[in-house]
Order: sequence, then C-alpha cells, then structure tokens
Amino acid sequence: MTLPIDQLIDPQRGIISREIFVSPEFHKEELEKLFTRAWLFVGHVSQIPKPGDFYTSRMGEESVILCRDSRGEVHVFLNSCRHRGMKVCRYEQGNTSLFVCPYHSWSYTTDGKLQGVPLYRSLYEGVLNREEWSLVEVPRLHIYKGTVWASWDPEAPDFLTYLGGAVDHLDQVLDCRDGRPGGSEVIGVHKWVLPTNWKFAAENFLGDTYHNPSHRSVDMIGIGPSGEKGARRDNEYAKGQHVWVSFPQGHGMHSVWMPEEFGYQTTYAQYPEVDEYFRHCFEERKRRQGVKARLMPFTGNLFPNTSYHGRQPRGLCVWHPHGPTETEAWRFFLVDADAPAAVKDVLRRFYMRYSGPAGMTEQDDMENWLYATQSSMGTIARRYPFNYQASMGAYKTNDPIPGDVSMQITDQTPRNYYRVYARYLKGDGWDSLLGRDVAPMQAAAE
Ligand code: FES
Ligand SMILES: [Fe+2]
Repeated sequence: MTLPIDQLIDPQRGIISREIFVSPEFHKEELEKLFTRAWLFVGHVSQIPKPGDFYTSRMGEESVILCRDSRGEVHVFLNSCRHRGMKVCRYEQGNTSLFVCPYHSWSYTTDGKLQGVPLYRSLYEGVLNREEWSLVEVPRLHIYKGTVWASWDPEAPDFLTYLGGAVDHLDQVLDCRDGRPGGSEVIGVHKWVLPTNWKFAAENFLGDTYHNPSHRSVDMIGIGPSGEKGARRDNEYAKGQHVWVSFPQGHGMHSVWMPEEFGYQTTYAQYPEVDEYFRHCFEERKRRQGVKARLMPFTGNLFPNTSYHGRQPRGLCVWHPHGPTETEAWRFFLVDADAPAAVKDVLRRFYMRYSGPAGMTEQDDMENWLYATQSSMGTIARRYPFNYQASMGAYKTNDPIPGDVSMQITDQTPRNYYRVYARYLKGDGWDSLLGRDVAPMQAAAE
C-alpha cells in the first residue's frame, strides 16, 4: 500500500494524522527513506581520544562503531560482520587493535579492513578477496566542533549545507562558555528506553514551550543550579526576546535574542567558585562574539532526531527509533573540556537531577509522550488527527535573526518539520529536502 502522505500530513492547515506516530508502515518508511539519508549525530571525538578507541553508537535502528584507527582517523562502520552478520563489537566502548568477530573469528583492523580469516588457505584461497569484504563504512562523515555526524547517502549535501542557518544555534551549544569556538567534551551519556514514538520527543525540542504547565511541580521545588525555588533552571534569559525559529531543512529551535545591553545573572549563587567561572565566561563571550553573543540557545532539534539543550543542562539528545512506539534516548552531556573540576562536578549533578531517566524535568516530558502514544494507538483514536494550528502564519523571515522567526509560542517549527518529513517519505531529491524552493533566506545567502 502506498501511504497517502499528503492527506495524512497537511502542515498548511496544521493537521497531522496520528498514523505517523503509531503505524508500523510509517516506521518502516522512515527507516528506509529518512534514516538512510539524513545526517545523523553519532558521537563526540572526546569519547574516542586515542588511536584504537571505539564507541558503539546507532544510526536509526542499526548499530554502528565510531572508531579512531591506528593513524588517528575517525570512522563509522556498520556493526555487522561481513561473513554472516554477527555484531562485531558488543561492547559500549573501549580500545582495540582489532575487532574480532565472536562467531567465526574474522577480524577487522580499526580502519575496517578484513585482516584475519581462520583457515584462509584451505577454505578460501583464490576465491575470497579480502579487499572486498571490509566492514561497511558510512560514505559521508563530518566532524563539527568535536561532534561526529554521518549519512548513509553518498549524494547527501555537505553537513554545513544540511545545517543551513541552524549552525549559529548549534555553535552556541558546542562552543566554550567563554566564546572560544568548540572545546566541549562529553562527561557522560544516559541511555534509556521509553514507550513512545521518537517524534514526540523531537518535536518537543523544536520549541514546544506551550507544555510548560506540565512542569509546574518541578518548578515549585526548584532544582536549578542556584537551588532557589520557583524555577527548574535559573533565569539567564531575563529581558531577552524569546524566538522560535525554523529553517527550510527542517531544523527548529527556541532561542532567546538578548537586548543590546545585558548583564550576567548570578546563577550558581551557592557555589562561589563556579559562579565566578561563569561570570568570567559571560564577559569573555560578549567580548569575543560581539553581536553574536546576543543569541542564547534554549532548546532545538536538528532534523530529524538530534535535540539539544543549549545552556542548562547543556547537551545533545538523540531519539533513536525502536519500533513505531518505542524510543531509545541517548543524552550526551557536554561541558567545557578545560573547565575546573568543581564546575564540571556541579554541572554533572545538575544535569542528572534535571535530565535523563531519573531527571525530574525529563520525567514530566516522558509521561506526556508515552501516554500520548498509548492513547493514540486505538482504532477510534487513529481516526482523529492532531492539531498544529498555533500561531498560523505568525512569523517573519530573517527578523531579528536569520530563519523564519516567531515572537510567540508557535506550531510553526513542527509544521515546518513535518513538511520536510513528508518530503523524505516521498523520496524527494536533495533540492527539495533542503527546502530550496521555500527558502528566501537560503537563496539570499547563495
Ligand atoms: S559472522 Fe563474523 S566471522 Fe562469521
Ligand atoms: Fe518539557
């Protein structure tokens, strides 16, 4: 059956069928047409600092090995033996000079070459050409400020074209707090499985500020870094203009555009050393970045399934599909690599009480997503689409920052996201997937 995609996904009217969140058929189409083409976040170079280091990751539902070879080059391989498919590497991370398959012991070097084949002379001589049986490697890989991204599509545009204007927002996640470019490291990864469709999580991070009342209890107890009640993070964004921004490639975010003059808000009052560090970073960032420092990131989602929290708690979260109604969440927590140990420790504790499977804010979100998934699975429920009509048409292009910018809470970011999502499922070419036909800001930039 061919899916009537345009009938089920109608961003113009703000109507989207529940089928895309629960149907095995949509899930299968996503794996075949979306996760095989889009640029996906795989990991961070700080997780594989030395030659031979590896970290097993995922792209869509498939296991991949992120690995630094003996010469220091970074690779991403499909984690499946070329002989009979066994998972070559069953460890989460480590260091090795060879990946030895547990099944029949074929072994691969860290640059993916098939090296050892037991009984080669007697069984394979003259038939098996080892050169042709290397581990399957992603055709496209890009390292951006320490983050590693990959695509299975050899025709995919380069990563920065794919990101488009979203790069300014991602920079604010990956750059040092004092404004130096890059310099972040991963201090830990939370992994957990939740019974929801992965897109509930992705679209929440596109800037669903509308759901804030569901965090009322956690706001009241105050789990923010300052320990003060009334907020779950501290108000760095005071006086800023909240903006919800979307880009033609499907990315969307909620950021804050600060006024020309803005000062440091004490955030870590109970930890003077940490507060001093952030005060220093704040001043340095303004000095280094100038007008760009006015952009403060809140949350965002880079199409399709990499979300971020820009400041508190800072990190990237990947929503791996795990069947139509199950998601495996991997949250990579970031800090400045050269921050003092006391700063990293305070952040680590804050990150854990906010995010992850036991994080108090994330629990609220997960509760919403999993019940929304469950109660959309029924025969009757599936006849009634979801509503995405908030702030229809209420945005300006490239004002006051690049992108389609709404100054009020909006469904424009998910409408744009599902417009692009539908194009992937229809198998469109890259010009269409990059939104070149709908992108005045893109055309102006070229
Ligand atoms: S499946 Fe790996 S060696 Fe046979
Ligand atoms: Fe939330």
